[in-house]
Amino acid sequence: MALPVVDTEYLKEVDKARRDLRALIASRNCAPIMLRLAWHDAGTYDVNTKTGGPNGSIRSEEEYSHGSNSGLKKAIDWCEEVKSKRPKITYADLYQLAGVVAVEVTGGPTVDFVPGRKDSIVSPKEGRLPDAKQGAPHLKDIFYRMGLSDKDIVALSGGHTLGRAHPDRSGFDGPWTMEPLKFDNSYFVELLKGESEGLLQLPTDKALLDDPEFRHYVELYAKDEDAFFRDYAESHKKLSELGFSPR
Ligand code: HEM
Repeated sequence: MALPVVDTEYLKEVDKARRDLRALIASRNCAPIMLRLAWHDAGTYDVNTKTGGPNGSIRSEEEYSHGSNSGLKKAIDWCEEVKSKRPKITYADLYQLAGVVAVEVTGGPTVDFVPGRKDSIVSPKEGRLPDAKQGAPHLKDIFYRMGLSDKDIVALSGGHTLGRAHPDRSGFDGPWTMEPLKFDNSYFVELLKGESEGLLQLPTDKALLDDPEFRHYVELYAKDEDAFFRDYAESHKKLSELGFSPR
């Protein structure tokens, strides 16, 4: 039987790693890519085969070389600086903690973090993460496969309130909002306004306006930031715990 990962010692290490991550993210202004790393490690989950998910497997070259993970090696290397100081922490916990801290330090909601994820070196085949060029049916296929809902899809898409696309990574260019280092509901406000000069809307972002179920949440989150923060925190926690049952 596997030894339990979480004991008092481990919890102390998690607290220290949280402080390390706060400092690292502040000094490098890298909250967006840390959130993206956490999401891409977790978002490979398949609820039917119980494979993929937040298990640290994205650290393997096989997986970070997938086209959709372009640019994430940098975030993996930054996390390694924390891992070398706090070797007890699993990569799986470290990457999810980095995502939670990224949201927190940019002014977003507090996402509850439960430690104890195990590491895997088994990478899923390429193609489990969403393709930004597609529409609402594709988003549903991908997120339902993870076991997530329409509400989760819209709330989590609000993660694009942070960061930007890079031509050399995804082929897309630009931020979604005027303040890409501030976690707020401006992603939804901009989405409803339509295209604006200098701001990006991916086909999958625009798809949130097409489907009536999706659109309902876009409208809610644009006018009620508290509702967005509440739902985002819940959906982010779900994403960070796919396939994980705390002991
Ligand atoms: C960036 C696609 C969902 C967080 C990006 C980029 C693409 C993309 C194409 C640009 C990458 C680059 O060029 O650097 C998608 C698609 C999604 C999705 C198709 C389907 C709904 C999410 C979710 C989160 C998220 C669920 C987190 C909760 C981010 C962040 C960035 C980003 C923070 C900015 C990274 C940076 O500034 O380096 N996404 N994404 N995305 N995504 Fe998503």
